[in-house]
Parts: sequence; structure tokens; C-alpha cells
Amino acid sequence: MTEATSCTAMPPFGVEADPELILKPSEGGTRELRRLFDEEGLLVFKGLEPMSMAQQMDVCRLFGPVLDNPWENMIVSNSRPDGYLGAQQLLWHNDLPYLPRPYIGGSLHALEVGAGTTSTHFASGLRAWERLPAELQDRIAGLNALHVKQKVFDRRNRLTDLEPGDVCAVHAVVRRQRNTGRPYLFVCEDLTDCIIGLSPTESDALLAELFSYLYAPGETYEHRWDVGDLVIWDNETVQHARGEVTEAVRTLQRVSIAEWGYAQMYPTDLGIYSDQYDITLAHGTGMAGVRAS
Ligand SMILES: [Fe+2]
Repeated sequence: MTEATSCTAMPPFGVEADPELILKPSEGGTRELRRLFDEEGLLVFKGLEPMSMAQQMDVCRLFGPVLDNPWENMIVSNSRPDGYLGAQQLLWHNDLPYLPRPYIGGSLHALEVGAGTTSTHFASGLRAWERLPAELQDRIAGLNALHVKQKVFDRRNRLTDLEPGDVCAVHAVVRRQRNTGRPYLFVCEDLTDCIIGLSPTESDALLAELFSYLYAPGETYEHRWDVGDLVIWDNETVQHARGEVTEAVRTLQRVSIAEWGYAQMYPTDLGIYSDQYDITLAHGTGMAGVRAS
């Protein structure tokens, strides 16, 4: 049996991979994992013993650089005092599209999971682009979109939500996957304000059309958490979302794969507005730059 055969496809996309491939990394196994990461954008490992943050960082280093700091690596929890992101829903998003270099990848490892806790959903920008009609592919080629910092959680964030010190970034609507050159859609429900150069009405209509392909029923993967699960995804081609977190305990350990960290790309968030804003990571939101109450 080859290492490749120990991985099974998960409909509609993603792969459940053999935990041995990360517990006892080999050259061939790691090559296969990287190939699957590029091809599918989503890897799931089940049945792992709880890992430390350092162990999870080592696993993520099989796929790319990992920065050892609390901006990229944290506890996501609705119960632990050191946990971030509270209980609010998170609409579909890539992490940090409002900065010049969104994270390469993300990972979540389940440490505590109560019965019926909230699942995490994933959608593929690669698959969405492939399903677009040719005329729509042609129409969006060369267009750019404006992405804004997260300020609200119950609807799409807009440029008009931003406050002094907040940032936004422009990225191509169709980007190319870093290792393969494959085109993928890079607009998201949560953080894309508009497509540049179109009227507001045209922009909203085009975004709604693109979202209908990205988040089409049957085209997204829902991960229901068990303790020990590790999910690793390509943050550039794959988006994630979650509903409002139920009361059941939910503690996930988050590690990012990134060449550039949040503090490197957005140093002004860490001090220049300190007279006006609470610059610490605000517990319960996970967001920096939240106005002090
Ligand atoms: Fe996220």
C-alpha cells in the first residue's frame, strides 16, 4: 500500500488523511500531503491525541512557514479565559484578505468539544471558478475587489464601517494558486466591500452571482468536530465560516501558515492609535483595534 492510498476523498471536496503521515512524517508522505493540500485545499486528520500548540506548529510547517506569535496562533474558545472569537457567527471569509498577504493556510485542532457544538464550514474558490460559465469567467478576468477589516459580524463588512486606523486591501477577483497557477475566486461574503470600477448596484449583483457559485448547496464541506480532529486548509483558495456557537464547550487550537504576520503587515494596529483604541486583542472578539469601552 502506498502512502497515497491511506487518504480518502470527502465529498464534495477535501481529503481525510492518515494521521500517521503527520505523526511519522516521511519525505514521500509529506510530498503527498502537499500535493493534496494544493489539489483539494482541505485536509482532515481524525483520531489524534490532543497536541500542544508547538506540536501543531510543527505539523503546519510541513506545508509552509509558521510564525511563533500570538497573532497567528491562538485558542478559539467559547469557554476558556484565554480563548478568542467568543460565540458570534462568522460569515464566509478567508483570513486577512484586507491585508496585502492573506495567510497561506490555517489549521484548527479540537481540544474540547461538547455534544452538538457548532461545526465549521469550508468552500473552495478553485471549484467555484471551475463551475462559472465561460462568459462569467471572461467578465471577471482582470477585475479587482476591495476587502475591508472586520468590524461587524452579522452582515457583510463595508468600507463605510471603517474607523480611523482601519485598513483595507485590493486583490484580484481571480487569483492564481501559489504552487499550481490554477485560477480561483477571491471574494468573500464577510469582508469584500465591492468590485472596483462597477456601480454599487452592479458590484452587489456581481458579488451575489459569484457567491451563489462559491456557497452553492452541496458544494461546501461541513466539519463536525470531535476531540483530536485537526483540519488544515489553504486559506487563499478555501474559505471558512461558522454559525453562532452553541452553549456546548468548543475549544479549538488555531495555528496559521504565513510568510507575513499580522503585526508585520499592520503595525499601526498595535500602537499608533493607542490613545483612542484598546490595542490588545479584545477577548470575546479576537479583533484588535476595537474601541475601548
Ligand atoms: Fe477565520
